[in-house]
Amino acid sequence: MTLDLTGKVAVVTGSGRGLGLAYARALTIAGASVVVNDVDPDAAKRAVDELPAGRAVAEVVPVGDTEAAQRLVARAVSEFGRLDVMCTNAGILRDRVLWKMSDDDFDAVVKVHLRGTFTCVRAAVQRMREQGDGGTVVVAGSPAGQRGNFGQTNYAAAKAGIAAMVRTWALETAKAGITVNAVIPTAATAMTRTIPAFAPYVEALEERGEPLPDALRKAEGFGTPDDCAGLVAFLASDAARGITGQCIGIGGDKLALWSHPQEIAVAYADGGWSAAAIAAAWPVSVGRHPETYGIPAP
Ligand SMILES: NC(=O)c1ccc[n+]([C@@H]2O[C@H](COP(=O)([O-])OP(=O)(O)OC[C@H]3O[C@@H](n4cnc5c(N)ncnc54)[C@H](O)[C@@H]3O)[C@@H](O)[C@H]2O)c1
Repeated sequence: MTLDLTGKVAVVTGSGRGLGLAYARALTIAGASVVVNDVDPDAAKRAVDELPAGRAVAEVVPVGDTEAAQRLVARAVSEFGRLDVMCTNAGILRDRVLWKMSDDDFDAVVKVHLRGTFTCVRAAVQRMREQGDGGTVVVAGSPAGQRGNFGQTNYAAAKAGIAAMVRTWALETAKAGITVNAVIPTAATAMTRTIPAFAPYVEALEERGEPLPDALRKAEGFGTPDDCAGLVAFLASDAARGITGQCIGIGGDKLALWSHPQEIAVAYADGGWSAAAIAAAWPVSVGRHPETYGIPAP
């Protein structure tokens, strides 16, 4: 079954290459028109050249600030008449352990991912509310934001913040018929080529066309960008109208639903908890099965 997105208009940030380009490809193949955004003009141009003629335009601007977000929404409207889908995918890494991470490393990552998602989705939702017939927001989370990851204070914080915004926006935009979900992708891209555990596989795929091993595609859910793109096209379609507030994992052969944080153990003390009472109760009550954290190594 192919889902028909004819007449729908999307913005995909960071879609000059990698996952964003795959999302733009899937959306246009299904019939949508797309504003390709990237900070890299050459990548944006190459992407538009590869997409169906007349259904993709490039808007080169770094996402983060409000003006960039407004430009993207305005371009969708001036070029294609409306906006149905905002997919915030643009991203960078500046990995360092906490004690070596500079203010610049932190701010740069938070600006593109967290602020870029906030400003782009705000501008899109303003437009969608004016149009009055709903819409689709797809943002990019990450296993690092769900679980924490060594060397990624900035990135994990931004991605966890994005998941928190999904839960908040799903509440706020429900009445307007706007769905908000996070894609939690895993794919061979320039970004994952910088991660030592994945680097040899990404290199073999990109340079020698060697398919990713089955174990990686299944257990790790690690595949190509195109493996992740069907989820974005699905979420943009009428078949996904009722789905909102979710963090959805996709990659390789795997599709997954992530849990949201919730209390998993509780204990009560009449009149409240003193430090000594917590110390006594911890090992036999809420502290008995502490949560794990971190992404399991491949
Ligand atoms: N690849 C993975 O396995 C993976 C895993 C989890 C999350 N993600 C997320 O998916 C998204 C895409 O990742 P990718 O692997 O395709 O990365 P990528 O580096 O291949 O592509 C990112 C694109 O974003 C563009 N970009 C960077 N800063 C920008 C800005 N300020 N404005 C506009 N464009 C900008 C880059 O030029 C590039 O074209 C990111 O948000 C990333 O955090 C990826």
